[in-house]
Amino acid sequence: MRKKIVAGNWKMNKTLEEALILTSEVVNMVRDEVIGDVEVVLCTPYIYLPVLQKYVEEVDRISLGAQNCHQKASGAYTGEISAAMLAALGTPYVLIGHSERRQYFGETNELLAEKVKIALANGLKPIFCCGELLEQRQNEDFTAIVKAQITAALFDLSAEDFGKVVIAYEPVWAIGTGLTASSQQAQDMHAALREHIAGQYGAEVADDTTILYGGSCNEKNAAELFACPDVDGGLIGGASLKSREFTNIIKARM
Ligand code: G3H
Repeated sequence: MRKKIVAGNWKMNKTLEEALILTSEVVNMVRDEVIGDVEVVLCTPYIYLPVLQKYVEEVDRISLGAQNCHQKASGAYTGEISAAMLAALGTPYVLIGHSERRQYFGETNELLAEKVKIALANGLKPIFCCGELLEQRQNEDFTAIVKAQITAALFDLSAEDFGKVVIAYEPVWAIGTGLTASSQQAQDMHAALREHIAGQYGAEVADDTTILYGGSCNEKNAAELFACPDVDGGLIGGASLKSREFTNIIKARM
């Protein structure tokens, strides 16, 4: 049985005080309301991870994630954070290959393959992001493009390691734009990616792989997206910055 996950990606938002308030509110709502067997992940800026750890420990179903990690184990990489540092904090998840990292920081599939490997070597669970640009959706075989991102970054992992990876499909044209993929568009891509994974690792591994949808997912459209058989949850940006809306999205995944 694959996991249902709703992850919030705060990106570069919230002061420490705001982060404490948002986390407390989410923790209280998740503790007091029925969320079923959904796992909640808060991907916060690095500097808040140690502070927020004790807040999320209050509730079994919430854990933290980083938004990135460096591909090297340690060394002279000023300003960077290693997978080992995150693991030592007890942070279980790490986003790898978010489209904003690809777009603004030049992260390639080859680099992301290194990041995934070092994350796994340190016991972190990568949430690997993939998705096509608007012009790719309009002009090219966009499904092949997204499959190729997965092939390049993940397919030399062992089946055991691949089983620790969560996939997040995020059509870049839907991120922060208010343009959500329709539930049919999301389902078609998720099913195609699951079939692609089955081709490499077999049907059982593919069936156990959690594939999240991200891109303008909000409390109004979440239930319809999550009703798709191959959409196992969401990676939520803007709507994860509001505790009530984020919790409503979590409840839509039940
Ligand atoms: O990581 C989250 C995605 O980039 C989605 O962001 O919900 O603000 O569109 P968004």
